Amino acid sequence: MSPRKLAFMASGSGSNFENIVREIQAGRLEADAAILICDKPGAGVLARAEKLKVPAVLVDRKAHPSKEAFEAEIVRRLEESRCDFIVLAGYMRILSNEFVLRYWGRIINIHPSMLPAFPGAHGIRDAFEAGVRETGVTVHFVDTGVDTGPVILQRKVPVEPGDTLESLETRVHAMEYTLYPEALRLVLTGKVTGLPPKV
Ligand code: GRF
Repeated sequence: MSPRKLAFMASGSGSNFENIVREIQAGRLEADAAILICDKPGAGVLARAEKLKVPAVLVDRKAHPSKEAFEAEIVRRLEESRCDFIVLAGYMRILSNEFVLRYWGRIINIHPSMLPAFPGAHGIRDAFEAGVRETGVTVHFVDTGVDTGPVILQRKVPVEPGDTLESLETRVHAMEYTLYPEALRLVLTGKVTGLPPKV
């Protein structure tokens, strides 16, 4: 069987994207990095894609009259790429229900907390400010909620005495770089399967 094609969607620096692509290029993850779709002009992930020679497109929300038109362009690009899975790597927009249902069980996300604790855009900061003694990282399938889909892998990261937000962030990101490739390996080898059938 030829390697499964991954489409990445990202808005930011792209360190998870780069880490996964390096795993693929080193032969440690059997997959094809088919395309990167980025919604943020100038985002660091675009430069990383160029460096890693992964085809990349910018789909700018501001260049589209509506969320529907914007997502339709993303869908067009995804269909063109013939991807098997969509890997969200710091994609900072909420996907519409239509989008999630179209790719049901094929969208994977990483979130920097032990979900269901601290969902949303600031998982690390919210955990730090809440003063918890441990937080973590979750990789999960995307359903129509925000950070609510079934967990593929989850691992704790302790909050150490004397931690600053920055030092905690560094440790959480390091865990992300271990956990995301591991979780993708489980999905790509069929050891973990997607969401229950759509109802
Ligand atoms: C990561 O912390 C990820 O968990 C969250 O967004 C961040 C993306 O960072 N969803 P990067 O762009 O991969 O460096």
